[in-house]
Amino acid sequence: MRPELAGAAAQFIALSAALCWGTVLAQGEEKLIPGPGSTLTENQCKLCHELEHIRRARLSRDEWAYNLRNMRERGWPTTDADVAVIHEYLSVYYNRDQPAPAPSADTHAAQGDPAQQLLGANGCTGCHAPDKRIVGPSFREVAAKYAGDKEAAARLASRIRSGGQGAWGAVPMPPNPQIQDADLRRLATWVLEQR
Ligand code: HEC
Ligand code: HEC
Repeated sequence: MRPELAGAAAQFIALSAALCWGTVLAQGEEKLIPGPGSTLTENQCKLCHELEHIRRARLSRDEWAYNLRNMRERGWPTTDADVAVIHEYLSVYYNRDQPAPAPSADTHAAQGDPAQQLLGANGCTGCHAPDKRIVGPSFREVAAKYAGDKEAAARLASRIRSGGQGAWGAVPMPPNPQIQDADLRRLATWVLEQR
């Protein structure tokens, strides 16, 4: 693991334990203004706190860039690609120098391979990569471990929903109560194909 990720992971886990998971479960249907990147932003930011923090904060484009760097220093597990989408979304929809445009379709979520979109939209890519360990195991390792196991897809779908700890080490995976059953199955099947 790269040192900055190890640091970020440790910080993230300390924070998760302290304040995140209860909040995630308590938030239910809380939403941001729909627009390109809104789902990704919701799912990544509510890992740690209420979306009210965002709705209340109207910042300039530069201030959002500063804020997002600050969130990464606080342990937000993400990727540069996701940060770019989120920065653009926040700078357009929560900008103090200009009114928000009318709500529109989240075209970001509608592009590309459905499993990849789910991984991005739900923040999985902050902790998992196809072929190297980040905070969690690589998808290739997971697929190899359960190769030939007919029950694996159902079990992984329920692991993705409930989170857990101990299958790969002491670091826990947070739960994902927001993901629908069909999407959970799609994710589990996709992971098992990554050999
Ligand atoms: C790793 C946990 C974590 C994640 C993920 C995270 N934040 Fe934060 N954020 C914090 C903490 C800790 C604070 C300060 C304590 C508080 O006010 O709850 C904070 C505060 C804020 C504030 C209030 C201003 C400030 O600096 O105190 C804003 C705005 C904010 N976050 C935006 C975001 C956005 C946008 C995202 C998603 C892109 C995000 N946060 C994701 C941990 C996180
Ligand atoms: C905050 C980091 C983090 C996020 C975000 C995250 N994971 Fe994980 N994931 C982990 C860790 C850590 C483990 C290992 C847990 C263990 O040892 O049981 C893991 C384990 C897994 C496993 C293997 C489970 C098993 O029983 O072997 C799968 C599959 C998985 N994650 C998929 C996902 C998917 C899909 C998402 C997005 C919906 C996701 N993860 C989001 C950290 C994360």
